[in-house]
Amino acid sequence: MKVYLDNAATTPIAPEVIDIMLPILKDNFGNPSSSHCFGRNAKAVLENARRTIAKSIQCSPSEIIFTSGGTEADNMALRCSVEQLEVKHIITSKLEHHAVLHTVEYLQKLFSLHVSYVKCDEKGNIDLVHLKELLESEHKTLVSLMHANNEIGTYLPIQEVSRLCIQNKAFFHSDTVQSIGHIPLNLNEINIDFITCSAHKLHGPKGVGFLYVNKRNKIHAFIQGGAQERGLRSGTENTASIVGLAKAIELITDNLDEKIEKVWELKKYMMNLLQQNIPNVLFNGETSLEKSLYTILNCSFPASKNDGMLLFSIDLKGIACSGGSACTSGANTGSHVLRELKTDLQRQAIRFSFSHYTTKAEIDFAVNILFELFNN
Ligand SMILES: Cc1ncc(COP(=O)(O)O)c(C=O)c1O
Repeated sequence: MKVYLDNAATTPIAPEVIDIMLPILKDNFGNPSSSHCFGRNAKAVLENARRTIAKSIQCSPSEIIFTSGGTEADNMALRCSVEQLEVKHIITSKLEHHAVLHTVEYLQKLFSLHVSYVKCDEKGNIDLVHLKELLESEHKTLVSLMHANNEIGTYLPIQEVSRLCIQNKAFFHSDTVQSIGHIPLNLNEINIDFITCSAHKLHGPKGVGFLYVNKRNKIHAFIQGGAQERGLRSGTENTASIVGLAKAIELITDNLDEKIEKVWELKKYMMNLLQQNIPNVLFNGETSLEKSLYTILNCSFPASKNDGMLLFSIDLKGIACSGGSACTSGANTGSHVLRELKTDLQRQAIRFSFSHYTTKAEIDFAVNILFELFNN
């Protein structure tokens, strides 16, 4: 048996997504910029996908710019803010994905940019009082804080951060790569400048995503060339994948409450089983439905004879999950997130992440393997 519990890394493509992409790859191969009927047919499905996506987050289709995924979308939000919107100060956190952290470091080297890192507690919650203080800066500021942490699942109180940004006239970018499609997101209710999405995190294809840019922000080309995406991001659009992305969003947001309930039950079930069967197991980050993403469970296992080999041993037994080790030895520099949370370096962290395709039998199988490893 092979069990896939690494859905925060990537998700299997939904069969319906493959079904909608294949005829486009085969027959609707025109370049959406061509004026002939092949081009027009491709353009029609492209714009239809944009409308579907815009509707799902309640924004205007013109605010969606297709990209090659989450990394490019994060780069675009940060770079356009600094290079075009005259941002001189970025407030972010040490818990961000490297798509944000490394881009901020790069921009800091290139421009005379102030960078502040907001404090967080041991569960990954942002210190809002500190954020408020940082926002008193005299410089034009961008706040870049992720919606749901990809390693530990802890949520950002996005509404509160949005309100603070409005009060202080700061731009607000949130990396929503892990949350889009998984929790309702209504941009009529959240005032935000940029959010990002990656299709492969929600049962769509890899190499495609989007950046939402609030229409009040007038930005120009990020990638130069043939002026696709209204001149903002050149390069022939990946029509089939974009249609796959729209279908994936449509599918995952259909009956979302039921999916949330199902996956949340699985997460609770796994937490209980682990607590009953493995002495001294702990969880990194927040774990409640209100405070963390129900698809992610970051476990902290006590030191044992499996140290350094736990992930490998689990993999050998057929379970795919992710290491979230805070180990700093050798080539493994471990997780920057867990290091920042100051978790016990003697313990072994493993991230299990679920989807609505995950079954209770798969959780039982995984917990049994862990039980055997810790009790033999
Ligand atoms: C929070 C977060 N941001 C950005 C990315 C990068 O997305 P992509 O793989 O589409 O470049 C990921 C993917 O791991 C992620 O989890």
